Amino acid sequence: MHGTNISTVGILGSGIMGAGLAEVAARAGYDVIVRSRSQAAADAMIAQVGKGLAKQVERGKLEATEAEAILGRISATDHLGKLATCDLVIESVVEDLAIKKALFAELEQIVKPEGILATNTSTLPVVDLAMVTQRPDKVCGIHFFNPAPAMKLVEIIRPLTASDETIAAASAFATSCGKDAVEVKDRAGFIVNALLFPYLNNAVRMWEQGTASLESIDTAMKGGCNFPMGPFALLDLVGLDTSLSILDALYTEFRDPNYAAVPTIRRMVAAGQLGRKTKRGFYQY
Ligand SMILES: NC(=O)c1ccc[n+]([C@@H]2O[C@H](COP(=O)([O-])OP(=O)(O)OC[C@H]3O[C@@H](n4cnc5c(N)ncnc54)[C@H](O)[C@@H]3O)[C@@H](O)[C@H]2O)c1
Repeated sequence: MHGTNISTVGILGSGIMGAGLAEVAARAGYDVIVRSRSQAAADAMIAQVGKGLAKQVERGKLEATEAEAILGRISATDHLGKLATCDLVIESVVEDLAIKKALFAELEQIVKPEGILATNTSTLPVVDLAMVTQRPDKVCGIHFFNPAPAMKLVEIIRPLTASDETIAAASAFATSCGKDAVEVKDRAGFIVNALLFPYLNNAVRMWEQGTASLESIDTAMKGGCNFPMGPFALLDLVGLDTSLSILDALYTEFRDPNYAAVPTIRRMVAAGQLGRKTKRGFYQY
């Protein structure tokens, strides 16, 4: 169905992105094994995917038999050893380099030698993960966007160590999932976040300087650039904490003042005003 050499895909992490990735890969016809630290969390994730699929059936967007088949292709485990036979593993756990490095070292021991080990990191250096394995040529980034089933783009991150075959296989996998794959070098922020975050940061700076109100800036960027939402609505959606860690990673890498998070963002994070998820960010929800 998918036309690649990959048949079994392992997903590590059952958070927002893990669940989306499992759905995307199973929809494309892959057998998917989701591994979480607890069996309960892994099972809950499958239930969440099932709920989403059931909604699509209700809306007439998906046949019930197809939904059942997709769900039937996903299994859940708390045992890392179950990933041994995977042709591709996509790591999507918390954005923490030490945790990801430890996992890649474990995967190296477990996954068959020809298996590709990929990360869904948004900002971390992929080469650091490649270098804790004995197969740095088979490690790359496959960066999906949130929500993964709906967003069309996938960035394929090429660390200095990756082989052409690995990058080609990762791109073919993303394409087989119905995504537009773009290749990018292993630099903080890759393409999208490296270009998006200076804009978001500068929008907050403009507001700090009193140039215009939040609402005016959002209205201006929607109406003037045809963006689906303005910068403050987007920051609230992404989460101020996530936005701050992305800006910090970009600033650490490039030392460009456009990436230096403006004080308002840091203070709002300290105050727990993280956006939609805490019901208060630049706007109230
Ligand atoms: N949320 C987004 O918009 C988005 C978009 C693209 C990529 N990403 C990337 O995807 C990855 C996951 O992000 P998310 O938004 O799904 O996060 P999340 O917080 O929803 O999920 C994180 C997962 O990591 C697991 N985890 C935490 N500590 C762990 C540990 N020590 N060992 C193993 N697992 C552990 C958690 O149990 C959870 O399943 C990150 O690398 C993030 O940068 C996120």
